[in-house]
Amino acid sequence: MYLCKKIILFDKKFIPKKINTSNLKKGSITFKAPSNIALVKYWGKEAIQVPKNPSISFTLDACFTITTLTFELKSTKSDTFDFDVFFENKKEESFKPKITTFFNRIEQYLPFLKEYKFVIKTRNSFPHSSGIASSASGMAALSLCLMQMEKELSTNLSQVYFNKKASFLARLGSGSACRSINGKVVVWGKHVVIDSSSNYMGIEFPYPIHKNFKNYHDTILLVDKGQKQVSSTVGHNLMNNHPFAESRFKQANENLDKMSVILQNGNLKQFIELVESEALTLHAMMMTSTPYFILMKSNTLKIIEKIWAFRKQTNATICFTLDAGANVHVLYPENEKEQINNFIVNELIEHCQNNQYICDRIGSGAKLIATQK
Ligand code: PMV
Repeated sequence: MYLCKKIILFDKKFIPKKINTSNLKKGSITFKAPSNIALVKYWGKEAIQVPKNPSISFTLDACFTITTLTFELKSTKSDTFDFDVFFENKKEESFKPKITTFFNRIEQYLPFLKEYKFVIKTRNSFPHSSGIASSASGMAALSLCLMQMEKELSTNLSQVYFNKKASFLARLGSGSACRSINGKVVVWGKHVVIDSSSNYMGIEFPYPIHKNFKNYHDTILLVDKGQKQVSSTVGHNLMNNHPFAESRFKQANENLDKMSVILQNGNLKQFIELVESEALTLHAMMMTSTPYFILMKSNTLKIIEKIWAFRKQTNATICFTLDAGANVHVLYPENEKEQINNFIVNELIEHCQNNQYICDRIGSGAKLIATQK
């Protein structure tokens, strides 16, 4: 009862008081939003898009989505969402149902949605079917474009409110998208040790981050570029009635507590242990659910074994993390990049599909690229 009341009050904060669309007839807005990689993983949710445990991620830099939202006030009001979507300049009907669901969820917070006809043009910096989820960067970019519209329709809307609400909206499109708005390291989900953390939006990690993490690298090894074997929705649902769910949620809370300390004290040995354990736990959850899945491929395991052997041999600060797929994110600090890059190129990329990989690193969040009226 108490929780219900709190959610309703919280939501109200993002319902605009009065919006007059007559001053904004048409225009376009372009935003660039990054992808992110979770260090402590979000896996399991409640309706609507509330995580079962808090998570923390590095914002990426080279993997991003650029979205241009063109809008025009309808001459006659209608009770439908009118929009077309283009992906890499091609009309993409298959994206429409997800965006319609998203619009339905956010309409109460952006009550002008049905008053406009939209064209959404979107593209990713990373290859299409690379196995890298574009929903985080894509939903973040679209939410930011819509927030920019709200900003143009309002008299004074602060940057803090803008970022919070953009993250709140993005979460309703795709959970992890709320971590792709602002900040190098982002926490999503209520946790006692992280001030202002929230289940409803991502917040920038609120404490000083140790210099060891400055420019931290993430080289993404594209092991399997195929369609996701398990969609996020199916995956999260597997945590309902999962035999290890409760202990996993407890562990994720403890791990976030530990990660918060590590990010501040720069202990890279502990960082490696925690990050790899989180990645393997995510996959263990999938292997032990009903139905069960193995999302790693034999090349994923070969890469992991080589990383462990190289680390033992050289003491290099290299570790891996995984998303809900076979690709491997190789994480390492700036001051070891030469040695580790050589190792990746000489030893690991032979296990990637067509030798493909993406050199990425920590980025700082989304950017407004252009507006036009
Ligand atoms: O945002 P979703 O619903 O696609 O879920 C993402 C879940 C993981 O990528 C596996 C983990 C995470 O925290 O990003």
